[in-house]
Amino acid sequence: MTLPVRLSTLDDTRAYGAKLAGVLRAGDLVVLAGPLGAGKTALAQGIGVGLGVRGPVVSPTFVIARVHRGGRLPLVHVDAYRLGSFAEVDDLDLDVDLADSVLVVEWGSGKVEQLADSHLEIELARAPDSETRTLTLRPHGGDWAERVAALS
Ligand SMILES: Nc1ncnc2c1ncn2[C@@H]1O[C@H](COP(=O)(O)OP(=O)(O)OP(=O)(O)O)[C@@H](O)[C@H]1O
Ligand SMILES: [Mg+2]
Repeated sequence: MTLPVRLSTLDDTRAYGAKLAGVLRAGDLVVLAGPLGAGKTALAQGIGVGLGVRGPVVSPTFVIARVHRGGRLPLVHVDAYRLGSFAEVDDLDLDVDLADSVLVVEWGSGKVEQLADSHLEIELARAPDSETRTLTLRPHGGDWAERVAALS
């Protein structure tokens, strides 16, 4: 686990996502954790900017999943809030090959880890009455620890 990163504004969170995009490769799974309004979608927006996908990356809460093409890699953005289990995620029938894409899943902890051999979990925390978010990176397997170290 790396040191937590302080993100003081919405723009900081988006900029961090754009920086993170620089280390992402085809087949990657990034799981975004944290409470309502923590900034998971904001981070995903930054990842979309960094990959150069056709925008706009907006919350997929109601559609569950969106595929953004046109960038260095396709970005598959999923909101698993309404999905109960891995089986429901697996049933989404995404019109994309995950091996060729970056998969970013909000509310994915405990539901989507099986989709890849390794993953990066990112937890966003918010303090009451503050815009500041605290981001913690948790590498799980693969070379995520090295890639995360290269970010700081
Ligand atoms: N430092 C910050 N980083 C990110 N968002 C911030 C920050 N400060 C304030 N905000 C605000 O917090 C909200 C974050 O919303 P966002 O949709 O990204 O959260 P979320 O974690 O995806 O929520 P949900 O669980 O509902 O999907 C936005 O309204 C944004 O303007
Ligand atoms: Mg969201």
